[in-house]
Amino acid sequence: MLDDNNQARETLERNLSELKQTQDMLIQSEKLASLGKLVADMAHEVNNPLMIISGKAQLSLMEELKNKKIKENLKVIVEQCERTKDIIQRLLTFSKPSKGALTEIDINKSLEDAIKLIEHQYSLANVKIIKNYMSSPPAIKIDEKQMQEVFMNLLKNSSDAMPKGGTITVSTCKETNNIRIDFKDTGEGISEENIKKLFEPFFTTKEKGTGLGLSVCYGIIKAHNGELKYESKPGKGTTATILLPIRGGKT
Ligand SMILES: Nc1ncnc2c1ncn2[C@@H]1O[C@H](COP(=O)(O)OP(=O)(O)OP(=O)(O)O)[C@@H](O)[C@H]1O
Ligand SMILES: [Mg+2]
Repeated sequence: MLDDNNQARETLERNLSELKQTQDMLIQSEKLASLGKLVADMAHEVNNPLMIISGKAQLSLMEELKNKKIKENLKVIVEQCERTKDIIQRLLTFSKPSKGALTEIDINKSLEDAIKLIEHQYSLANVKIIKNYMSSPPAIKIDEKQMQEVFMNLLKNSSDAMPKGGTITVSTCKETNNIRIDFKDTGEGISEENIKKLFEPFFTTKEKGTGLGLSVCYGIIKAHNGELKYESKPGKGTTATILLPIRGGKT
């Protein structure tokens, strides 16, 4: 009898905690949707004057300019406009992910291509990458270029979280109708408070971070009808999980 009671209480507690998680997720995705709209409107509005500033500066640079200082200043204006253009582009990927070229790919191979680019550099920083791929993955239709950007961002975040080195375990498996990809690191972890802010544009805890990496990833995964989830224990490490539907790619 006591056992039955305990079991019932445990089930109830588990259900409540799942309910709370779902509720949190809904609040979070609504918040991101309204933030996305604001960002898209703002990016659009800022883009036009920015193009005019950059264009005028470039035209002035074509003139015979005797004053070196003015020439230098114009060059700085053009450079900074380019930087702003890049930030706006990333913000638009978060709020209005564009439809790219969809191709049928092997997820293991795609991960391997991304990892190859950074593996050597990471090993010099004592970051080891362990691979745990499923055998014969089902083909999946994705925008490979965009997905590679997601992989690179997640790998970079993991390595940033391990300044003294550690391991990143990259695994793939099939989970119901999805392909699941996990990036598990042994880094500093993320506090519960910060986990809620991960996908917000400009949220960063890094001195030189822009806080746009995960906003971009979120937009790309959403465009693929997928999910990006985080689990973390401060001091122990973080797991980033991507779920991609096997049928029913990008919208
Ligand atoms: N694997 C991880 N371990 C610990 N913290 C993480 C991890 N991934 C993300 N974070 C936290 O989330 C924040 C936001 O990540 P995001 O990639 O969006 O921006 P960033 O890495 O700070 O800057 P950048 O625009 O250069 O990517 C990080 O600053 C960091 O605090
Ligand atoms: Mg990042």
